[in-house]
Amino acid sequence: MAGLKGKDILHGNQFSRKDIDGMIQIASDMEKELKKKDSLTLLKGKILATLFFEPSTRTRLSFETAMQRLGGGVISMASAEGSSAAKGETVGDTAKTVSQYADVIVIRHPRIGSAKEAADAASVPVINAGDGAGQHPTQALLDTYTIRKELGSLKNLTVSMVGDLKNGRTVHAFVELLSLYQARLYFVSPGNLRMPEEITSNLKQKGIWIEETEDLEKAASESALIYVTRIQKERFADLTEYERVKGSYVIDSKFLQRLKKKITILHPLPRVDEISLDVDSYPGAAYFRQVRNGVFVRMALLAMVMGRR
Ligand code: CP
Repeated sequence: MAGLKGKDILHGNQFSRKDIDGMIQIASDMEKELKKKDSLTLLKGKILATLFFEPSTRTRLSFETAMQRLGGGVISMASAEGSSAAKGETVGDTAKTVSQYADVIVIRHPRIGSAKEAADAASVPVINAGDGAGQHPTQALLDTYTIRKELGSLKNLTVSMVGDLKNGRTVHAFVELLSLYQARLYFVSPGNLRMPEEITSNLKQKGIWIEETEDLEKAASESALIYVTRIQKERFADLTEYERVKGSYVIDSKFLQRLKKKITILHPLPRVDEISLDVDSYPGAAYFRQVRNGVFVRMALLAMVMGRR
């Protein structure tokens, strides 16, 4: 994982299995360290810039928490409206400018490819925190860490991915990591929100077993894990189409009773209506533990990118 020093983190396909196993070990070390003390000094004097041109709760705040727990400082732009992007400044010029202030940049933007544009212009490492419906690699890293903690192993899992697989950048990145561990993947979505063909054909070329279906119950009954995603209203050009598909899949306690087995449930969050509140107390409901893991994983990633691990 020393190989990540100075690197941009842009896409789930940039990691090897050795990278992921190394990251999991470092994140686990960070988690243990934080049980002993509130913060470390590993990145003392370093500055993280968070540039968020799209809303976020978890990704921005967990990156900022991670940097502060590592002893570093944070400068933050929480919306496009509050920056010179509102005056027409390009992503590239923004990244070049912020490189003069910060040692590492985390960026979220509504356009696919924008993080790469920022990385090409910046003189410090850039981490993609979500580029439109493209990729969200750090979410995939924390999802992977969560599976290792919840299930003990990543190898040969059967996973059902559920919801808006067309627009869900978290699933686009996550399948890249799961494919390194020979996962079997069910893609459960309404017909118009299927996983992009480019991604399914790439997985098939790698020899990964996949099945696309609209039947959640069948897929879940054969899976150890369901990864639920929100139908992404903000990506629909036609809101009547959104109204037609919203609420297509709802995980509730009745659904879990019908499964007649324990299953692990992850969700990158935020949720709208796809997981009922009555599921939160179910032992396999791991999505808020998943949120907490984001801090340890982002601590590990920042330390690695800054060459301190
Ligand atoms: N999972 C995730 O990306 O959440 P936020 O949109 O709140 O950052």
